Amino acid sequence: MNFRQSFSLFFFSFILLFLVQCTSGYKTNNVKPTSRAHKLSRKVFPDDFIFGTAASAYQVEGEALKGGRGPSIWDEFVKIPGLIPYNATGDVTVDEYHHFKFTIILFRDAFADYADFCFERYGDRVKNWFTFNEPRVAAAMGYDTGFHAPGRATGSRFGGNSTIEPYIVAHNLILSHAAAVNRYREKYQIDQQGKIGILLDFVWYEPHTYSESDKVAAQRAIDFHIGWFLHPLTYGYYPKSIQDIVKERLPEFTNDEVELVKGSYDYLGVNQYTAYYIKDNATINPKPISYQDDWHVEFKYDRNGVPIGPRAHSDWLYIVPWGLYKAVTYVKENYGNPIIFLSENGMDQPGNVTLAQGLQDTQRRHFYQNYIMELKRAIDDGASVIGYFAWSLLDNFEWRLGYTSRFGIVYIDFKDNKRYPKESARWFKKILQRS
Ligand SMILES: *[C@@H]1O[C@H](CO)[C@@H](O)[C@H](O)[C@H]1NC(C)=O
Ligand SMILES: *[C@@H]1O[C@H](CO)[C@@H](O)[C@H](O)[C@H]1NC(C)=O
Ligand SMILES: *[C@@H]1O[C@H](CO)[C@@H](O)[C@H](O)[C@H]1NC(C)=O
Ligand SMILES: *[C@@H]1O[C@H](CO)[C@@H](O)[C@H](O)[C@H]1NC(C)=O
Repeated sequence: MNFRQSFSLFFFSFILLFLVQCTSGYKTNNVKPTSRAHKLSRKVFPDDFIFGTAASAYQVEGEALKGGRGPSIWDEFVKIPGLIPYNATGDVTVDEYHHFKFTIILFRDAFADYADFCFERYGDRVKNWFTFNEPRVAAAMGYDTGFHAPGRATGSRFGGNSTIEPYIVAHNLILSHAAAVNRYREKYQIDQQGKIGILLDFVWYEPHTYSESDKVAAQRAIDFHIGWFLHPLTYGYYPKSIQDIVKERLPEFTNDEVELVKGSYDYLGVNQYTAYYIKDNATINPKPISYQDDWHVEFKYDRNGVPIGPRAHSDWLYIVPWGLYKAVTYVKENYGNPIIFLSENGMDQPGNVTLAQGLQDTQRRHFYQNYIMELKRAIDDGASVIGYFAWSLLDNFEWRLGYTSRFGIVYIDFKDNKRYPKESARWFKKILQRS
């Protein structure tokens, strides 16, 4: 059902689903009840734990065609008529290039520290580096489905081969990440005392039934998702399940490359939004047709008619807070308890909500509250998570969705680019007070 035509209905059903989730989903998944929500505050996290919001240059900055800025793959991609709702582009987007001072003033209760930080560090270098954000999305959406730039896929008007290219692209992203990390470590790190890592998206995959084949299938989905990158970056080779299925289509690392790639991060960013159930798909194509086909799984969104979680505006986003707990705990247990930033997490509103509707984002406040409680639970159980970043600070250009999806805790009137903090932003301000 369409959100704008039925905002209140959506909102109401969200609350209902939310209650179902609290009473059934939470119990079965052993999550602490939401009655503890009122205890959520900065004080329950360690003193040096970092809270922030995430943003991306192409999605907010604008000024894309000016000032000598070089082109990116998205600049070309967005020129294609009819590709993005209302032919939107990021040429201007929410014009953060000219508004960053106003945006920062909204957060002035941190501006002095921000300025102090800049004064102290400018002329030297940034101390926290990440090479890539969501390289899996670039490889899979850019070269398997072709939904994102550069739009390559088998049969696409832009060319491509979905059984081969995603693996080549991922391989090259892994090698370039490792080369950058190596350069930083060899030439700069001792003097500059900074840290470097990579940001990976991680959808949690829960077995649909307790059958062995569904358990193995869910593990395979995890391997093809985060393991595709995190396994080589930790151990120097791709997960066995990927090697066994992709065989000669999977590029190999030379011995030198294994040494370069293995252990090539000081910390990790994990972007976590949602979870799906996974069922084994026993029907295997003799001639594989895509990276997604190689997973040999079926996606399921409910168990015995009970949805895995309520659905947000974007149809891929089921609201499953316990997925965050499981994702973080999985990384802890399988990759040597690395230092993690929970680097993106959030839900969206439709682009065409009115200002009044946009500001009253109570369901999004609940989203943040429940996910952060799950993060806290993962930390209490031993995960080395040192920061949480909400996606996103501002409503912005949401890639192929253009301006039809608002992820900001700050509402943007796209007509004049004025900024208005939503209820969720006020809630963050309240819980993050230090005293
Ligand atoms: C997008 O551009 C195409 C080609 O110029 C045009 O036919 C179409 O109407 C445009 N769509 C919108 C929503 O403006
Ligand atoms: C994709 O590449 C593989 C390996 O080169 C080849 O066997 C296959 O026919 C190609 N598929 C398409 C659709 O071109
Ligand atoms: C199972 O895999 C086969 C072969 O790739 C595919 O044709 C089919 O659509 C898949 N089934 C589901 C439900 O995803
Ligand atoms: C609001 O946006 C949705 C797509 O996200 C569209 O289907 C709907 O028609 C829009 N409503 C109005 C009133 O423009």
